[in-house]
Amino acid sequence: MNEENTYNPEKALAYERNTRISVPTYDALFEMIQSYFRAHINEKEAALLLVGAGGGNELSAWGTSNPEWSFTGVDPSEEMLFFAKNKAVQLGIEERVNLIEGTIEDLPLSDTKFDAASCILVLHFIQNIEDKLMLLKTTKKHLKPGAPFVLVCAYGDRDSTELQNRINVWKAFLQDAGFEKSKADERGKIIMNISFIPESQIQQLLTDAGFTNITRFYSTALFGGWICHAE
Ligand SMILES: C[S@@+](CC[C@H](N)C(=O)[O-])C[C@H]1O[C@@H](n2cnc3c(N)ncnc32)[C@H](O)[C@@H]1O
Repeated sequence: MNEENTYNPEKALAYERNTRISVPTYDALFEMIQSYFRAHINEKEAALLLVGAGGGNELSAWGTSNPEWSFTGVDPSEEMLFFAKNKAVQLGIEERVNLIEGTIEDLPLSDTKFDAASCILVLHFIQNIEDKLMLLKTTKKHLKPGAPFVLVCAYGDRDSTELQNRINVWKAFLQDAGFEKSKADERGKIIMNISFIPESQIQQLLTDAGFTNITRFYSTALFGGWICHAE
């Protein structure tokens, strides 16, 4: 293990804190998804697929409270997966966790399909629409028919006043957390580098990927959440 991969608790903590500034309802979001999964997963011993498992927040939110669930997480970031791995060990759930460095394309298709999947705060980092669609299509191929899938990502029509108003709400979160106004304004410009696409396009991508019953259940400033089911 090289020095870069040494577990850095301060960095991990900063990631946790910043996410909750950006998404003040972050913990409630995970509770909402857990409720939905519990209501719609048919198997007691369920296998969950985490696309963009990142720092392992899905593991801490659902791992110990659902002792019959196992988790397969994919993420291209070695550093983020390192956080996730440490979290799994700290939670004592590492036997139920399989982490794969790469994208969903790197997960071999198997006859055993997943009972549910999530893709939380990932899709807006993928700029190309075809690549977004490919991620969703491949995720769907890994799911049992009818399995619930939750997508959470930034959304909005880039040129709309509506998105600008939501960015102003988001900047208010930053200021309230101690950012100078000039810093929050700067972040407001930088955030436009992520891929915002209108909600209608996100719903169309989900449809094209083979998901049905697409419903938005969540929204906080820049981010929306959609629940749907594999065909
Ligand atoms: C903001 S983090 C969210 C992580 C986690 N889902 C959470 O909510 O804490 C975004 C993650 O997406 C990952 N990511 C970026 N591109 C990806 C891709 N094509 N497939 C899967 N994950 C990707 C990044 O490495 C990063 O860990």
